[in-house]
Amino acid sequence: MSETRIIDASDPAEQNKIVEEIADLLEAGEVVALPTETVYGLGADALNPDAVAKVFAAKERPEFDPLIVHVGSYEQVDEIADVPEDIKEVVAKLMKACWPGPLTLILPKKECVPDIVTSGLPTVAVRMSAHPLMKAVIRKLGKPIAAPSANRFGRISPTSASAVVKELGGRIPVIVDGGACREGIESTIIRPEAGEKRPILHMLRSGPVTKEILQRFGRVERPKRNRSNEAPEAPGQLANHYAPVTPLRLLRKFEDFQPEEGKKYGLLSYCGSEKAGFINGHDWAVVEELSPGNGKLAEAAVRFFYVLRKLDESGVDEIIAEPCSETGLGVAIMDKLRRASVR
Ligand code: TXA
Ligand code: MG
Repeated sequence: MSETRIIDASDPAEQNKIVEEIADLLEAGEVVALPTETVYGLGADALNPDAVAKVFAAKERPEFDPLIVHVGSYEQVDEIADVPEDIKEVVAKLMKACWPGPLTLILPKKECVPDIVTSGLPTVAVRMSAHPLMKAVIRKLGKPIAAPSANRFGRISPTSASAVVKELGGRIPVIVDGGACREGIESTIIRPEAGEKRPILHMLRSGPVTKEILQRFGRVERPKRNRSNEAPEAPGQLANHYAPVTPLRLLRKFEDFQPEEGKKYGLLSYCGSEKAGFINGHDWAVVEELSPGNGKLAEAAVRFFYVLRKLDESGVDEIIAEPCSETGLGVAIMDKLRRASVR
């Protein structure tokens, strides 16, 4: 493939025409990059294995890493998944509280879901996106859309169309530009299970729906961290993920920083505060702040991948990341920083 067409979806008057065009492309077995409220996704007709194969090829994604299926209605959930009786109640509550939105549920799959989507697993990851464009395209297509983040495998997730161009330009036919993503980090992934007293929610990936929110629905458990890049027991837990090309090191405290002579360092600061000692501790080549002057985790999440990409492109030899508080959205940010800093 040579040319990637960018479709500007900012004009409401063009909306219907664009939705129709994207649905036609997907129906014809093509892949399309399109916005969701979390990050941009690379979508394909979830029930067409040949189309889904193109997603894996464009991303250079290993076949053991399954995709998230985006649905447009509760009926579509029932078409692709079997919700076991003993978790029906908690699943219904979670969907009601968090959908459409950044929560992905792992559920037993139905036969119609091709093996390539789930990497042969008996379960399927299901989510209902809140993005108007994604919703409209699924409605028009009348089928669910399988969509991983629209980056090359293991790289920084894209939160704007221009980031998708950098990741997949020349590899896919169309990118729909729907502006910047509202959440900025990928959906929370949980596998609900029946428990003795309360349901157990296995949190496979932290995200915008935080542990604090999920605790209202059951006991939240985190699987042990996977330190290798082998096919993981819980996919999505690959140790080395979200990695910039430039080496990144997450430091607990500034005293752990021992700069090498002649090396250019960039600082990924949480809010630019001097208190942690990072900002004024070294003559940084570049400083980027996640939540400038503010220290708001929601802002830090929205800007996270954007800032990481900017530092990656700044030409420094190494990125030093300052920790943020590990509560609420900070859990997902710190998780990503840890994965990005594994070498
Ligand atoms: O916010 C999001 O979730 C974005 C947007 C595009 O919707 N999508 C996204 O997809 O982040 P992706 O492919 O980058 O991450 C999906 C994760 C993978 O790490 C995969 O291993 C996990 O979901 N996953 C998919 N199916 C699974 C399953 N059956 N069991 C466990 N994990 C699964
Ligand atoms: Mg991804």
